[in-house]
Amino acid sequence: MARPLLISPSILAADFAVLGEEVRALDAGGADWIHIDVMDGHFVPNISFGVPVMQSIRSVTKKPFDVHLMISPVDPFLESFARAGADGITVHAEAGPHLDRSLQAIRSLGKRAGVSLNPSTPVSAIRHVLDRLDLVLVMTVNPGFGGQAFIPAMLEKITEVRELVRGRNIDIEVDGGITPETAGAVVRAGANVLVAGSNIFKSKDYAAAIKALRVGAESISA
Ligand code: DX5
Ligand code: ZN
Repeated sequence: MARPLLISPSILAADFAVLGEEVRALDAGGADWIHIDVMDGHFVPNISFGVPVMQSIRSVTKKPFDVHLMISPVDPFLESFARAGADGITVHAEAGPHLDRSLQAIRSLGKRAGVSLNPSTPVSAIRHVLDRLDLVLVMTVNPGFGGQAFIPAMLEKITEVRELVRGRNIDIEVDGGITPETAGAVVRAGANVLVAGSNIFKSKDYAAAIKALRVGAESISA
């Protein structure tokens, strides 16, 4: 049974001077989730923002916060993000020495647990933690920056993940270089949650940009 298509705009590409307004506009524009990219300048070569910024926009929308932690070590920060209003927390497979323990910690905080796979990370990294997973995030660029080009080799990986999680209640999310043009291919490969940053924020009309992603996702040709 096909899982519902969800659009999760990344606020990494938002205007931080008016972040609350930006989140309101995404909410009104039909975003399903709000994607929160947290970067530490260590696990990835860029720094974004942390718990206080996320907390400050929690009151602006009721949409689920889809928190993507690109930080290492990650375990010491899980509780603060959970308390600050995360709904799902995704960690990278390499973000700590004990992935299984990190996933248990997220679930014990009452949050949906996700694992993110870098482009070079094999799908086998999640094979033995499937029972602890609610979401797999396939990075379709190397994490760290918005606005990068989609890596086509990730289509095969998405399909591999789909086969591995078949029959389970697990979302497959993609992140990086998602546009109406790439959306169809990733959904056909097996993704059901699309993260998009620059593609949405470069548009003046977020509702139209989100709609265009949905239309692209439903297209049957590449
Ligand atoms: C990259 C982030 C992405 C990024 C996507 O490290 O995880 O969420 O914001 O940006 P676009 O959609 O511009 O590729
Ligand atoms: Zn992300």
